[in-house]
Amino acid sequence: MRYLTIALAKGRLADKTMALFEKIGITCEEMKDKSSRKLIFSNEELGLRFFLAKASDVPTYVEYGAADIGVVGKDTILEEGRKLYEVIDLGYGRCRMCVCGPESARELLNHHELIRVATKYPNIAKDYFYNKKHQTVEIIKLNGSIELAPIVGLSEVIVDIVETGSTLRENGLSVLEEVCGLSARVVVNQVSMKRENERITRLLKDIREAVRKEQS
Ligand code: PRP
Repeated sequence: MRYLTIALAKGRLADKTMALFEKIGITCEEMKDKSSRKLIFSNEELGLRFFLAKASDVPTYVEYGAADIGVVGKDTILEEGRKLYEVIDLGYGRCRMCVCGPESARELLNHHELIRVATKYPNIAKDYFYNKKHQTVEIIKLNGSIELAPIVGLSEVIVDIVETGSTLRENGLSVLEEVCGLSARVVVNQVSMKRENERITRLLKDIREAVRKEQS
């Protein structure tokens, strides 16, 4: 039997996903050893293979079919814009994509000023400002600690993930506009969905049931 390969965005999302998978009898003991440098793990009886990848690479592995299935945040799915099927909202990893900045920037947004927007998500930011708000802005790509940008004067606002809001609070920034809600999603390669339809459908059904139980 061919392995079904599952790519997980490494970090908290992967830990939560493995905990969810355990509930439907999908276990992977090897993966629990945090000291190991191993990248790929298998469960021979179930014919499953798992690997951990950087979140932004998960949609790439899935589009090319190197992974049949992926678990990754909606932020990454939107940003990467890969061709894949998004099939389940896992309901965890919930947070929001927001335009944030000092209160003083609210005016600039309202008046559609040509402002600078720093973000780790240039495609999401572009789509929001150009297609939704019809506002011309300058997008500046950063790779982390985005909240710094308006504080040191790199940009007027940022587009970033807000979970608890404490990073914003501690840096004197606020949510000015909401772009969209986010959470962990299951994605499937378009060819695998046809070729391995039976196995994938069964697996997705089990996952949906586990999610439903978790949420009730
Ligand atoms: C994310 C995000 C915010 C923060 C939001 O950053 O970019 O900075 O978490 O969480 P909060 O609302 O609960 O404070 P992350 O820690 O992933 O690292 P980064 O700064 O490298 O992007």
